[in-house]
Amino acid sequence: TTGFKGRDFLAETDFTVQEIRTILEVAEELKRQQAMGIYHDGLLRAKTLFMLFYNQSLRTRNSFEAGMTQLGGHAHYLDPDKIYTPALEGKEVAYSTERVSDVARVLSRMGQAIAIRCYGDPVDWEYGGAHNLIKEFAKWSDIPVLNMEDDIYHPFQGLADMLTVKEEFGGFKGVNFTMSWAYSPSVHKPRAVPQSAILFATMLGMNVTLAHPKGFDLAPDIIKQCETYAEDGGGSFRITNDFEEGFKGAHVVYPKAWAPVTLFQPPVGINDPKKSQEIMDSFKSWKTTSELMDTADKKAIYLHCLPADRGYEVNNDVMDKTGGLGWRSAIFDEAENRLHVQKAVMSLLMK
Ligand code: CP
Repeated sequence: TTGFKGRDFLAETDFTVQEIRTILEVAEELKRQQAMGIYHDGLLRAKTLFMLFYNQSLRTRNSFEAGMTQLGGHAHYLDPDKIYTPALEGKEVAYSTERVSDVARVLSRMGQAIAIRCYGDPVDWEYGGAHNLIKEFAKWSDIPVLNMEDDIYHPFQGLADMLTVKEEFGGFKGVNFTMSWAYSPSVHKPRAVPQSAILFATMLGMNVTLAHPKGFDLAPDIIKQCETYAEDGGGSFRITNDFEEGFKGAHVVYPKAWAPVTLFQPPVGINDPKKSQEIMDSFKSWKTTSELMDTADKKAIYLHCLPADRGYEVNNDVMDKTGGLGWRSAIFDEAENRLHVQKAVMSLLMK
């Protein structure tokens, strides 16, 4: 557990596979001990995590807040509209914004970490707009910067997903992990969750299938990184455009909506929402049903980062089958695990 102190957590690629395994082990240990009534409120006593949310949140905000309470510190919520909204250099507007470089240096004098959620406008997705903002914070901050989801990565969600898989299957080797696109009436869905999930799943050596309709590709550099991780990690990585094929024999199915970048570029373009919606609507059959779950492994688990579009992405009988025989939904274990992995990372980086 040495070598973590003071580091940022902006993306999966910031840590080695061994370091990710250590984080998961610490998370398991903290979770186990807490279940036995052993508390860890001395680990980050009197320390402050600043949390800056450009977007809404249920799970991320509350798991970081509860986590800091359990570790003996405090998580402080910052609304960008209620401070002088941090902006990249050259983008400031007089009286309403302040440079990221100033905000990061001020907060560094007061607390022990800065966490940021900012997923940008869809037109910025190919250019890493929001991720660049978080990187700018990291450049100027003297304390760790944590990525609570940007336009490319959602690393803490990915860690919670991996902890859930590990608890369920005892490890990663031989586990068939399918990340799939799912139908949603909204065309504006970030790609951070699927990208983080496939990065971690290939890094940890699972057999990973990415299933999505044609045109819903994830970022090419992320796909390349997954191929490298699969080669190095002893697992595998493949892409299919067949939804049903993705379910067959899967131990983990993780269907989640994301927007295709091509819908925001010519010839369709963001200025043609009707056409974009028509394209989205042609994939309504990409919905998770109990019949599809029956084609997965008998002990399969259904994952979703939440919130899910019930009735569109997935039927209620899948989401709510959290017990009983056969396959089951592990979505609430997954949500709880946000707390445990974040406590592990904060303990290691902020101690
Ligand atoms: N999964 C997740 O990040 O949830 P929130 O948007 O509620 O934080």
